[in-house]
Amino acid sequence: MAIDYQSKIPNNVDLAQDRRLQRALEHWQPSYQAWWQEMGPEGLQDKDIYLRTAISADKDGWAHFDYVKMPDYRWGIFLAEREGERKVNFGDHAGLPAWQEVPGEYRNALRRIIVTQADTEPASVEQQRLLGQTAPSLYDLRNLCQVNVEEGRHLWAMVYLLHSYFGAEGRDEAEELLARRSGDADKPRILDAFNQPCNDWLSFFCFTMFADRDGKFQLASLAESGFDPLARTCKFMLTEEAHHMFVGDTGLERILRRSAQLTKLDPNGDARAQGGIDLPTVQKFINFWFSYCLDLFGSEISTNAADFFGAGLKGRFGEEKRFTEHTALGQHKEILQWKDGRLQPEQIDLRSAMNEVLREDYIGDCANAVRRWSNAVQAEGAAFEVKLPHERFHRRQGLYAGQSFDLEGNPISDAEFEQKRAEWLPTQEDKDYLVRIMQPVRGVGQIANWIAPPRRGINGLDFEFEYVRI
Ligand SMILES: [Fe+2]
Ligand SMILES: [Fe+2]
Repeated sequence: MAIDYQSKIPNNVDLAQDRRLQRALEHWQPSYQAWWQEMGPEGLQDKDIYLRTAISADKDGWAHFDYVKMPDYRWGIFLAEREGERKVNFGDHAGLPAWQEVPGEYRNALRRIIVTQADTEPASVEQQRLLGQTAPSLYDLRNLCQVNVEEGRHLWAMVYLLHSYFGAEGRDEAEELLARRSGDADKPRILDAFNQPCNDWLSFFCFTMFADRDGKFQLASLAESGFDPLARTCKFMLTEEAHHMFVGDTGLERILRRSAQLTKLDPNGDARAQGGIDLPTVQKFINFWFSYCLDLFGSEISTNAADFFGAGLKGRFGEEKRFTEHTALGQHKEILQWKDGRLQPEQIDLRSAMNEVLREDYIGDCANAVRRWSNAVQAEGAAFEVKLPHERFHRRQGLYAGQSFDLEGNPISDAEFEQKRAEWLPTQEDKDYLVRIMQPVRGVGQIANWIAPPRRGINGLDFEFEYVRI
């Protein structure tokens, strides 16, 4: 399945055979380019950057490395290869052939799913727009640009689905995706975490760790979809998403390790006195971003989630391989409801609890990383344990949004929460401090003082490589 580089839009979907679709996408392309110029990484558009570009969707071709200027990056449309006679694997239609066209009755639901996912892609580019000015090394600068061009490609992937399968409505949605702006008062992005500012590199690593990991779980559950083009699109996106999470996971590990080193180095155990970030501050940013990203999974009890599962549109994480029973009927999940001033267990039918099921898998994935970070910190000789806050902590959506909870998930009064806020969540002073210490480091092989260098470079290269020609 080679990619057609002859046409304006690289693709492995035989775009040349569908003139109407090709024209629609070629019409959207200049708007996309204009958006990229306006909202893509500031000050880096004319630089040569050592980037990975997909040149085919198979195992060998999707990771091709070379210097490229970002506006020349070949944003294309790639779907994972089609697997023989795929079936709908769960829900009420399990066993029927997978849909190659949008089933009429699920048109609105599918459009909503795709638009919600699509909106996060340009949003994160907008959130990260200024970070290139303060990158701690050329290696990190290059990773930022890699994440950004791939979020751009993910937008292309979703816009292809909208143009291809949703007619005029889809074209309108594609325009809207370039019209909304992260954090804009009048036209904000759809989901709240994607309207939060991301102005420092600690936030960036938290974002790629926690928000891109939400992306992994959403994409994985859509890769199970009975709507085959969506499943194949998401499958290919997941290969790129892995690098984004790697950036966040290792970025946080490198900050934590450096923080532990500086804490030890300082006579008073004060990492900030050494120009670094103290461990409790890193923990506060983890608390903030983790809790915001839990909201992305939607309400614990949700009729939409039940409908999406029943329809075969959105499965569980690893639905086909991890589960043997795929109707989720006649089963229940216990969920603690906040009622009459206390937490009360209630049995919720499993389909209605699908958001919570996915959120739990996500939390388990995050917990693995946190354990590794704690080990890395302790290996540096610091007695500090990194922790995930409880899932009820600091929620703004779902069952626990209306009540304050502490880091362990115990109910507390709003006044108690406010008293603890500066200890649990980043303060303005913390944010100002990070902005002060984050000065750009642009020499080959050099690194800022507040972060440890990576254990290895990109694509088998050393850290000491000119990843960006500044
Ligand atoms: Fe993405
Ligand atoms: Fe991503």
